[in-house]
Amino acid sequence: MPLTPAKIQHIQRQVIHWQASHGRHDLPWQHNVSAYRVHVSEIMLQQTQVTTVIPYFERWMQDFPSLSALAAASEDDVMAHWQGLGYYSRARNLRKAAAHLADEHNGEYPNDLKALNAIPGVGQYTAGAIRSFAFNDYGPIVDGNVKRLYARLFAIDGEPNSSAFNKIMWQYANSLTPEASGAFSQGVLDLGATVCKKSQPLCQACPLQSDCLALKQQRIAELPNPKKRKIKPVKDAHFVWHTDSADQLLLIKRPSPGIWGGLWCLPQHDEVPANSELVGEFTHQFTHYTLNAQVWRAAADQVNEGLVENGKRMAEFRLQSVHELSAVGLPTPIRHFIENVIALRQPTNN
Ligand code: ADE
Repeated sequence: MPLTPAKIQHIQRQVIHWQASHGRHDLPWQHNVSAYRVHVSEIMLQQTQVTTVIPYFERWMQDFPSLSALAAASEDDVMAHWQGLGYYSRARNLRKAAAHLADEHNGEYPNDLKALNAIPGVGQYTAGAIRSFAFNDYGPIVDGNVKRLYARLFAIDGEPNSSAFNKIMWQYANSLTPEASGAFSQGVLDLGATVCKKSQPLCQACPLQSDCLALKQQRIAELPNPKKRKIKPVKDAHFVWHTDSADQLLLIKRPSPGIWGGLWCLPQHDEVPANSELVGEFTHQFTHYTLNAQVWRAAADQVNEGLVENGKRMAEFRLQSVHELSAVGLPTPIRHFIENVIALRQPTNN
């Protein structure tokens, strides 16, 4: 249903007014605002909660305070700053973005949705967020919070991840977003996160309660419609813990693209390595599958077999002290596994 100009203006005013007194104003990326800080925070906030992101953001800005500092950083250093956040392609793309902006835009952010969209790792949402929050220009945004808000406000049915539903959400965002959109965009994010919550939304506190079709129709609980659940496949993986030194572990750098690409990891084999014994097992949930991992103890020559193919070494590797694991970017489940094994060791005299 098309929105009238009066309705659009009313919704904009309600959201902006509410944001001024009830929205969030003290998040670290809302201070010393720059396109770089908005970009990094928005990438971190994809798939990750605000409270988890804050310490990562602070460490990142301390060590890579500018786009040029990021462009000059090594991949290992960048990956080490991301470890534990997951979805590591986000960190690799931030580094590529710094190089892209240096090459194509003199190390500056373009204030243009199309050019922003062409930055590695930047999609429609992040381009809109940079326009909104860094430039206070027209920057429509749709994320999970915004979808929930609009699905209820306009009583929109549909599978929330379908392209048809997304298209409708972007049409609403495009129409509702004002020319100077910083406060409005922050307002819809904050409303979605703190008032129009998934369960037990605070409708009585909502500035849009008299406009909300789902509330009028008593359909708050059923909108947005539930996502279709897919059964996740299980994949097996074998990792090798080399035995040649008690205090050093052989780690390989995982190729990117690929899971955990750019991170350091125990060498992975397709099958159980020869002459090995089981150290332990762990499982890890990825978005699209469950990883069922076994870790095998084997001598370094067994490890080597997995690293060398046709006489060529397949991966970068290093011997890493098990007491200095925080110096390298490791996948979180691998780090936890190693730490648990080390903690259970018999105390030694040295
Ligand atoms: N989630 C995504 N972007 C956000 C922002 N700018 N503030 C709060 N939460 C967010």
